[in-house]
Amino acid sequence: MVLSCVVEPMRPADLDEVVAIERASFPRPWPRWAFESELSLPYTCYLVARPRQEPPEEGPCLLRRRPGPAQGPIWGYAGMQVILEEGHIMTLAVHPEHRRRGIGTLLLLHLFAEARKRKVLRLTLEVRETNLAAQCLYRQFGFAVAGRRRRYYSDGEDALIMWSDRLDTLESQARLERLRSRLPGGKRFEREERGDLDSGPGDVL
Ligand SMILES: CC(C)(COP(=O)(O)OP(=O)(O)OC[C@H]1O[C@@H](n2cnc3c(N)ncnc32)[C@H](O)[C@@H]1OP(=O)(O)O)[C@@H](O)C(=O)NCCC(=O)NCCS
Repeated sequence: MVLSCVVEPMRPADLDEVVAIERASFPRPWPRWAFESELSLPYTCYLVARPRQEPPEEGPCLLRRRPGPAQGPIWGYAGMQVILEEGHIMTLAVHPEHRRRGIGTLLLLHLFAEARKRKVLRLTLEVRETNLAAQCLYRQFGFAVAGRRRRYYSDGEDALIMWSDRLDTLESQARLERLRSRLPGGKRFEREERGDLDSGPGDVL
């Protein structure tokens, strides 16, 4: 069996695991109640990524349309708020043991897809000035620095404000396709999308 991931909506029952990853990922982690509050809002979208086992003939696949029943622990999560045509990415984190495997990319691809469904035109976020790993990831998605919030974080560090390109352009779609195709199983996902492969019921992206 090989390992793949599915992405699902975050539920209150996920919060023990989410808060553990949060504490391992941020110097000033969000408390549990902050996640509870976000999940209770109608205009938010919070997602978790979990591993699942695939039959060997399927091969590893980070992008897939068929969520399977056997799911493992949470490896990463992301969330955004949507207000009219703007989406604000509130958080993104991957368990330290599972970084650099495409899970951050996978979660962002799902947030972008959800943003498009909700007619969002642009996404924005704040990122620590020193968080070069996250900035590098965001740039791959078409985000660029548009400003700075001085001493935004409680330890005094500045935040960079990043905005994405417009999501409703061919350029943006092409960028997301390129990012999808680089993930394990991304090519297969595209063949499923075109109808070259039977995708079965369900759709997680
Ligand atoms: C930022 C974070 C979510 C990235 O998750 P991830 O699953 O490791 O990301 P991916 O594997 O999809 O990486 C995609 C690309 O991002 C960039 N990137 C990710 N981590 C990086 C690092 N440590 N250094 C440099 N570039 C990095 C790379 O370009 C990478 O592509 P590559 O692996 O082909 O070189 C993860 O490092 C994390 O949880 N950090 C702590 C929490 C955090 O900072 N969240 C963002 C708050 S704004």
